[in-house]
Amino acid sequence: MKILEIKNLKKTFGQAGENLRVLKDINLTVEKGQFIVLIGPSGSGKSTLLNIIAMLDTPTEGEVIFEGKNLHRLNENHKSELRLKKMGFVFQFDGLLPDFTLLENVNMPSVIAGKKKDAKARELLAAFGLEKMADKFPASLSGGEKQRGAVARALRNNPVLILADEPTGNLDINKKIVIFEDFAKLAKQGITVIMVTHDLHAEQYADKVYSMEDGTLVEKK
Ligand SMILES: Nc1ncnc2c1ncn2[C@@H]1O[C@H](COP(=O)(O)OP(=O)(O)OP(=O)(O)O)[C@@H](O)[C@H]1O
Ligand SMILES: [Mg+2]
Repeated sequence: MKILEIKNLKKTFGQAGENLRVLKDINLTVEKGQFIVLIGPSGSGKSTLLNIIAMLDTPTEGEVIFEGKNLHRLNENHKSELRLKKMGFVFQFDGLLPDFTLLENVNMPSVIAGKKKDAKARELLAAFGLEKMADKFPASLSGGEKQRGAVARALRNNPVLILADEPTGNLDINKKIVIFEDFAKLAKQGITVIMVTHDLHAEQYADKVYSMEDGTLVEKK
């Protein structure tokens, strides 16, 4: 089943005369439950593409169809709702809030969505082997623990799509592999993952690998 389709997407930054054409013609079809890895040099537009899929930025031209909806034609409320309920985000630096415990951090998306309190956040911590860390604050967790906590948080509202922008950027190789395996497992459960990385180790865990080259996507696997 097709979950995401990107058609003739272009993104240009800047004003007339001084245009930076970052995305020149992006076409991509993603099936439900695929683990997609996106590689490419610094400045090639990987984060720009994720931001457009996340509706945090708008395309200059072209379409992003997610679950049959043309994302950039939706109003802001509808965009926010989709972002909160259908998508999960993981970034290079975990982004955990320092004044909240790990459990509170993982539960945050559900608080924002106004959901009733339930056991889901604790279940997610258990699924990631972090149950003993529930009441710790981020400052007292290791880099790998924080990053897995960030993955758990991204799953809090049962997203159908995870967008991860260099989620293992500051981890050592063993901890990176744990995260790659986590994503591969999630994909097998039907959660689609699009991950940007500089790490070639990720390729073996991915269903598809694309490289951003001169504003277009080139299929590598
Ligand atoms: N809001 C913006 N305004 C102007 N230029 C921008 C903006 N955002 C990104 N750019 C430019 O677009 C290009 C692509 O940036 P982007 O962040 O998408 O690259 P990237 O592939 O994610 O790089 P990295 O691997 O370093 O994270 C860069 O040249 C960047 O300077
Ligand atoms: Mg980037």
